Amino acid sequence: MTAAIEAAGLAKRFGETVALTSVDLAAEQGTVLGLLGPNGAGKTTAVRILATLLRPDGGQAFVHGHDVAKAPDRVRDIIGLTGQYASVDDTLTGVENLVFLGRLLGRSRADSRRTALSLLERFGLTDAGDRTAKTYSGGMRRRLDLAACLVGDPKVIFLDEPTTGLDPNARDQLWEIIRGEVRRGVTVLLTTQYLEEADQLADDIVVIDHGSVVARGTPEILKREVGRPTLQVRPLDGAHLDRVAAIVSEVTGGHTVEGQAVTSRVSDTAALYAVVRRLDEAGIAVTELSIREPSLDEVFKQLTTGAPV
Ligand SMILES: Nc1ncnc2c1ncn2[C@@H]1O[C@H](COP(=O)(O)OP(=O)(O)OP(=O)(O)O)[C@@H](O)[C@H]1O
Ligand SMILES: [Mg+2]
Repeated sequence: MTAAIEAAGLAKRFGETVALTSVDLAAEQGTVLGLLGPNGAGKTTAVRILATLLRPDGGQAFVHGHDVAKAPDRVRDIIGLTGQYASVDDTLTGVENLVFLGRLLGRSRADSRRTALSLLERFGLTDAGDRTAKTYSGGMRRRLDLAACLVGDPKVIFLDEPTTGLDPNARDQLWEIIRGEVRRGVTVLLTTQYLEEADQLADDIVVIDHGSVVARGTPEILKREVGRPTLQVRPLDGAHLDRVAAIVSEVTGGHTVEGQAVTSRVSDTAALYAVVRRLDEAGIAVTELSIREPSLDEVFKQLTTGAPV
């Protein structure tokens, strides 16, 4: 089966700046691919290439089998894009924005209006449909932006940081809309800096940094492969903090003091038992002794800064 999105060896420079080195990525139809990376990693550049807005200097990319460089029109027919900077026209109403886009796609006025009204309803914007977009809140604008990208009934949508600046409610609403599209078979490439977002939505994740892929896999695999669990010990008596720190260091080779607790990365749970034994021998009582799995946040930090996890 052909992947909905497939790119191999994508490279792009802007003058001296290398935005992408050699990026490979793929997404099966009806899945969400999360493209993660810190500021300047190359996420928007990759999206713009895949959406035919920018030509790569090297490599190839296909959307439903169409080459983005050789058959951009075929690609544009089946994609929707919402940019990092929202693209709706402020001076038009919600309805006008969507009708305008329908007309641009060659639809009749009546058809464009029908599509516009149904999208506004799906996105909870019916009541705001006759107001100009400049009166919308940030969350409403994002929803209108996403609605705009669905006017052409795309098979693949590119969402470049779709929830930046949204409050948790607005973000949850947008996530639900995105999930709904995916259930209908739409493929989504989502860039985000929110690890939670990737964890919630993405089937697969590609992490890029300085234009190169530094990790890929499902959220679970990334957490398992990259992150190591954290051992945390909290003595009952704060005066024992130093001795606990010494014991943890002896067993695990290092420690960090966080408030009234001592933590350390461990490679397996055997460390937990060794620490328990030493604490028992030393007669030190604890209120907490736990092993915590790494969060995707910690994994991301390690991948993109080289900080030990
Ligand atoms: N049109 C351009 N001209 C010059 N340099 C550019 C251009 N577009 C991007 N760059 C550079 O390419 C690199 C990658 O930028 P890109 O916008 O793809 O990053 P990003 O991962 O989307 O970052 P952010 O999280 O800040 O949106 C950066 O160093 C950026 O300064
Ligand atoms: Mg960007």
